[in-house]
Amino acid sequence: MSAENTSSSYHHKSLVIGLFGFGVVGEGLYKVLNQTPSLKATIKRVCIKNAGKPRQAPAELFTTARDVLLNDEEINVIVEVIDDSEAAFEIVKTAFKNGKHVVSASKKMIAEHLEELLQLQQETGQSFLYESSACASIPVIRNLEEYYDNDLLHSIRAIVNGSTNYILTKMFEDKLSYRDALIQAQQLGFAESNPKLDVEGYDAVNKWTFLLTHAYGIITNPLELLFTGIQNVNAFDAQVAAEKGRVIRLVAQAKKLGNGKVAAAVLPQFITQDDHLSFVRNEYNGVVIESGFADKQFFYGKGAGSFPTASAVLSDISALRYDYKYEYKKLYHHKPLELTNDFYLRVYLSFDELAEIPKDKFEWIEEWHAREDRKYLVGVIHVRHLQTGNWWRENNTSLILQPDAIIENLELHNLKKKSLQLAGIQFHHQFGSI
Ligand code: HSE
Repeated sequence: MSAENTSSSYHHKSLVIGLFGFGVVGEGLYKVLNQTPSLKATIKRVCIKNAGKPRQAPAELFTTARDVLLNDEEINVIVEVIDDSEAAFEIVKTAFKNGKHVVSASKKMIAEHLEELLQLQQETGQSFLYESSACASIPVIRNLEEYYDNDLLHSIRAIVNGSTNYILTKMFEDKLSYRDALIQAQQLGFAESNPKLDVEGYDAVNKWTFLLTHAYGIITNPLELLFTGIQNVNAFDAQVAAEKGRVIRLVAQAKKLGNGKVAAAVLPQFITQDDHLSFVRNEYNGVVIESGFADKQFFYGKGAGSFPTASAVLSDISALRYDYKYEYKKLYHHKPLELTNDFYLRVYLSFDELAEIPKDKFEWIEEWHAREDRKYLVGVIHVRHLQTGNWWRENNTSLILQPDAIIENLELHNLKKKSLQLAGIQFHHQFGSI
């Protein structure tokens, strides 16, 4: 094949886009596409909710009628970047049925409807790409999908929410108040329109739900996973972290255990200085992958914001030119792994009153400190005690994972013996026998 032929075969497909949403991401994409004429992709129409808002684009581009885009035969790609997950799901379903490929940034919709979306993709054969929906500019989905073999992926730990990372950085490093840090995250276009989704961990767990599918073939529901956000992390915790030379981050993690099952959670965690995630500040995201022979690999990039997110949408649009589809290899071509709730976590808890803490639920407690303003302990607890109760989110209690938090059943006995030898006398005096 001549060089000419090779190059023309790459450019045969012209992409005519119907765009849903013209917020932070949609407008970013519009600008980025205008600066990338080589892609030969044009936005034909944009569907918006509120016709009255002033927008920096020709008025004739916009419509409020979704069917104008969905029924337009010239439009072969629907890009959907709205923040109403149910409306997004309806749009995507219709787009598939009408023979259009879809690029989406709706993490909530993908997390909540993944099974149905997989089914629809199989039925219709359309591409459904959503790299921008997790870690924005970091190509984490394509990496997990294409590069890592199921058997080799030992663990993944990641910061997947830019807003909470921005807030933690601004509060504890730059001494901003929580309120001011959140307002900045909103003004910079990082936060969800309902910032509770960021702060309380919903956005992170949504992203983690489908990253688990690409990493391990696991299909789950966000509410099945153990998660919380940064809503209870306070200045006392930040002080304890600083004393120990650590930082606090909201970390999504998954680890393949000795029995072949996967332990997963999204919780705040103390991060030591030698951990790659300690390097991730502000709206950046980071992913540390531990695999069979490569040891650790670290992916880093902006996890929120207009252009970083638009860049991932652009990359998906570009991939459609060669009909790229996720193969869901771990799900369809390997034996999918199973999630398990049968493991232990080493946790730090800070609280006002010891009476509020069910200390009998701990396997053992290895540190205990009472200060004038607040108290904290470090102990090992089975995950089911966190999954079945809310006590650790209530009464001003703050739970943060210790650096090496996940403990397997097999390890428990030896660790307990060691820990009792080191700290036993001290906590037996404090608590009696537990
Ligand atoms: N609110 C999200 C975040 C936007 O802060 O990470 C990017 O998904």
